[in-house]
Amino acid sequence: MTRPDFLPLVDLRRMHDPIAKDLGEAFARVVASSRYLLGPETEAFEAEFARHEGGGTGVCCGSGSDALYLALRALDVGPGDAVVTVSNSFVATPESIARTGARVVFCDAHPATRSLDPADLARILDEPGADAIKAVIPIHLYGRRADCAGIREVLESAERNDIWLIGDAAQSHASPDVSQDTDLTCYSFYPGKNLGALGDGGFVISKTKRHANRIRSLRNHGRAGKHRVSEVGVNSRFDDIQAACLRVKLKHLRQWTQQRRAIADAYRERLSAHSHVMKLPADDPRHVYHLFVVELTLGTDASVRDRVFNQMIDEHQVGVGLHYPVPCHQMAPYPTERALPVAEHLSNHVLSLPCFPGMTYDEVDRTVSALERSLSLRPPGITRSTSTGAVT
Ligand SMILES: Cc1ncc(COP(=O)(O)O)c(C=O)c1O
Repeated sequence: MTRPDFLPLVDLRRMHDPIAKDLGEAFARVVASSRYLLGPETEAFEAEFARHEGGGTGVCCGSGSDALYLALRALDVGPGDAVVTVSNSFVATPESIARTGARVVFCDAHPATRSLDPADLARILDEPGADAIKAVIPIHLYGRRADCAGIREVLESAERNDIWLIGDAAQSHASPDVSQDTDLTCYSFYPGKNLGALGDGGFVISKTKRHANRIRSLRNHGRAGKHRVSEVGVNSRFDDIQAACLRVKLKHLRQWTQQRRAIADAYRERLSAHSHVMKLPADDPRHVYHLFVVELTLGTDASVRDRVFNQMIDEHQVGVGLHYPVPCHQMAPYPTERALPVAEHLSNHVLSLPCFPGMTYDEVDRTVSALERSLSLRPPGITRSTSTGAVT
C-alpha cells in the first residue's frame, strides 16, 4: 500500500512525467521501424553516451552485470585468474568475476571514498597468489569516484602494469570524463540509476576498438558472422526501445546531475552541525550523488542505524535505504580470509537519504528533521539557507 505522505528514496515519476511526451514519441518511432534489437537507435546511443562520458568506444548490452562479465571476458579473464574488487557494494560485481571462473579477491574500502583502498591493494599484491591477479575493478560507489590515480601508482610501484583496470560506473553516470579513469568502464541502466532505462540495460566503454569489438561479438553469442561463432558468448543484446528512451533522457542528464549535487549541498549544510554522531560523504566536484549516504557513527554494531532506519520509514514516512547492510564476503558464495574492517564498519553504519531529481528543498528539510528526531538531536540554532521549493 502506498502512503500518500510517504517520501520515497527515489521517485522516478518526477523525472519521467515532464518528458513523457518525448518518451512516447521515441517509443512509437521504434515500433514503426520494426528494428527492435541492436538497431539504429542502439548504434546512435552507443556513440552519444560514450562521448558524453569522456570518450572511447561504447557497446550496449543487456545489464550492468553483463557489462562487467563481458568486459572481463574481453580481457581473457577466466579460470585460474584472480580479480580484485570491494565487498561493501552490490553483489553484481563479485558475481561477474565468479561467472568467468576467476577467483574474487576482496580489497578493503577507504573511509573517504568508501571504495577500493590503494593501501590495502598494495598489501594484496604482496600476498600469496597475487601473480594470478589479472584485473582490478574499482567501483565509483554512490557516484563518488574511486581513487584510480592511487590504484595506478600502487600497480606501478609493484611493477604490475600487466593488471587491467575495469571501472564499475553503474552508479556514476555523468561524472566528468569517468571513462578516462580505467581501461574499460561498465554501466548499468537499471531504472533507478542516474541514467536509467525503462527496464534493464548495460554499457561498456572501451579505450581500445579491439576490446569493444570483442564485446560486440560476445554479447551476440560470440558471433563472427551471421552463421559463424568464434567463441562461447551470451545473449546480451540491447533493445532499441530502451536506446531510444535513453537518448531522450540523456539530454536531461546534466541538469539532473546538477540537481543531485544541489540536494547534496543542502543536506551537507543542514547536517554539518551533527558531526559528533554522523559522517557526511566526502565531497568531490565530480561526485554525482547517485545516493547521499551518511554514516551514523554511534555504537559499534548496526543497532542504532537499524533503529533509525525503521523509525524514519515507520514513524516519519521517509524512505531511507541501506546500501549495503551485508558486505558481499558475508554472503555464502563469496567467503574471504582477508580482514575487511572498513567494509564491515560501513555495512553497520551507512544510511541512504532520499536524493533524486525533482526533490524539493522542503523535502530535504523534512528528511533532516526526521533524522534529527530519530537520533534525538536538537536542530542546530543556526539559520538555514533560505532555499525552498523545487531544486533546479
Ligand atoms: C555498483 C553496481 N555494479 C553493478 C550493478 C549491476 O547492474 P545491473 O543491475 O544492471 O545488472 C549495479 C546495479 O545494481 C551496481 O550498483
